[in-house]
Amino acid sequence: MKKTWWAWLPVLILLLLAGCAPPRAEKVKTASIPPGEVDPAVWGKVYPLEYDSFMMTKEGGQGESKYKGSEPRDKLSEYPFQLVLLDGWGMGVEFNEPRGHVYMLKDQLDVDPSRRKAGGVCLSCKSPYAPQLKEQMGLAYFQEPYDRVHAMIPENHAELGLSCIDCHDPASMDLKLSRWFMEDALKALGKDPANLTRQEMRTLVCAQCHNTYVIPKDENMKSTDLFLPWQESEWGKITIEDIESVIKSDPANLEWKHNPTGIKLGHIRHPEFELYSNGSVHWRAGVACADCHMPYERVGSSKISSHHVQSPLKDNMRACTQCHNQDPQWLREQVILIQDRVNNLYTRAGNAAAQAAKAIELANKTSGVDRQLLGQAKRFYEKAYYRVTFIGAENSMGFHNPEEALRVLGDGLYYADQALMKAREALVKAGVEVPDKFDLELSRYAKRGTKEVPYRPEQNLEFTFDGTK
Ligand code: HEC
Ligand code: HEC
Ligand code: HEC
Ligand code: HEC
Repeated sequence: MKKTWWAWLPVLILLLLAGCAPPRAEKVKTASIPPGEVDPAVWGKVYPLEYDSFMMTKEGGQGESKYKGSEPRDKLSEYPFQLVLLDGWGMGVEFNEPRGHVYMLKDQLDVDPSRRKAGGVCLSCKSPYAPQLKEQMGLAYFQEPYDRVHAMIPENHAELGLSCIDCHDPASMDLKLSRWFMEDALKALGKDPANLTRQEMRTLVCAQCHNTYVIPKDENMKSTDLFLPWQESEWGKITIEDIESVIKSDPANLEWKHNPTGIKLGHIRHPEFELYSNGSVHWRAGVACADCHMPYERVGSSKISSHHVQSPLKDNMRACTQCHNQDPQWLREQVILIQDRVNNLYTRAGNAAAQAAKAIELANKTSGVDRQLLGQAKRFYEKAYYRVTFIGAENSMGFHNPEEALRVLGDGLYYADQALMKAREALVKAGVEVPDKFDLELSRYAKRGTKEVPYRPEQNLEFTFDGTK
């Protein structure tokens, strides 16, 4: 029997519908990721939209950002006082602005080798293999030389940066904390790691790496562990005072010795979670890291969380306008206003701390100097160092918590001035002719940093106190 063409019409319509309709939820769930799968490309076969977005973190550029963006700019020539504050520490040899997540391991491999001296432990936030290496190797993971531990990563992934498994459970795709130290860290804050809300997880997956940590040392200065110094803090209130107190509670936490002053110090690294969660306006409004750094976006007919994690200023403030109805230019100006103020005080406090370091250096070399005064100067210097570094190592130039950033820097400036005063007093008492201003002797560090021309040099002028600047 001969059929007319229109008899096929329902089938045609069905076919068209299937082709154009958004992917069905079941379809996404049926394809599964092998347990423990590290390779993002394998995950990408099942979740191509998130994968493509994730790979966009390869993109460089400054965009509309003033202080941040995705160029690995040299922070040492940008803030020359850092050369003095970090003298004796790998950070003082090479210290760059962060860039996209795909580069995290590559940038660590490219950085000056003094930065990897702590050993395999340095991989903890740079490779998705870190949790399994730690599991297999135990103590050796922390203290074996970096290159030896790095060599245990499969060769084809020797430069693989962040991966899906760092934040997701492959079986359910739920957010999951992959770093072993998070459980103790959350318990220390009085938070039950087994009962975290979705919104908390949208912050905590980031807090696994965007935090400050301690790598305690044994008597041979070998690394023994990695922990987050939150033992004296509570959820929503981690302060620099509490962190400083934990660091100082055990000499094993003093990871390096500052050359100019001879003081043994701990270190503060990128405390994004700590600064943000310490009562900032956005934290208190329940906003998560992912709200601002992984805004929703439409791709074709689907809505996904952007996995192109970057500065919101590189993305026309799209993240902010999910909640704020002001225009992007106004929002950007708010960010820059905050950052300019924080940068001003940061530069002042940093330069004051560098002055104090030079005064203490001279006092150390002076015979017959009053030990008590010098000791007081050193104790003030330590406090200044931790505060200046807390804000300098934090990656938002204060935006994540403007009030707290200014408070910490104000204290940092105060302690730096006190340190300088005590050291000067000790020098004067010992009969030394003390200059009005100490030369930072930056030529000592001529080979440091990666770029010759300082970025934004106008920001780096030392503030003088004669009212001319
Ligand atoms: C496994 C560790 C890890 C996790 C988890 C992680 N990050 Fe990062 N992040 C890094 C490292 C390391 C860098 C610096 C990479 C570089 O410079 O090579 C970085 C860089 C960044 C940057 C700078 C990007 C740029 O283009 O300059 C932003 C923004 C950022 N992370 C936000 C987040 C947010 C938000 C989350 C959670 C959704 C998160 N990160 C989760 C380790 C991590
Ligand atoms: C209310 C929005 C908001 C929230 C919430 C937020 N950030 Fe940010 N973040 C920003 C802005 C704005 C900047 C500054 C970007 C710039 O100057 O270009 C920034 C900068 C950063 C940078 C440096 C970016 C770069 O280009 O180098 C990192 C890393 C970062 N944030 C991580 C986090 C983490 C981790 C959290 C959660 C603990 C978080 N942020 C929460 C808005 C936010
Ligand atoms: C730094 C942490 C992080 C990494 C790495 C990461 N994701 Fe996500 N992902 C998130 C967050 C946060 C969400 C939002 C979850 C929520 O709101 O409950 C998300 C959501 C998702 C979703 C749910 C749909 C959506 O878009 O909201 C999928 C699918 C997904 N991610 C796939 C991937 C894939 C594939 C990779 C690797 C290529 C990956 N993710 C890497 C943090 C991450
Ligand atoms: C998930 C919602 C949300 C997102 C995303 C968000 N904000 Fe907000 N923001 C709020 C809330 C809520 C407040 C506090 C209530 C208010 O004053 O509107 C706030 C307050 C502010 C304030 C006033 C702060 C103060 O100290 O009073 C500024 C400035 C601001 N946001 C800028 C931004 C910028 C810039 C971004 C993007 C980088 C952003 N916000 C992203 C919800 C959000």
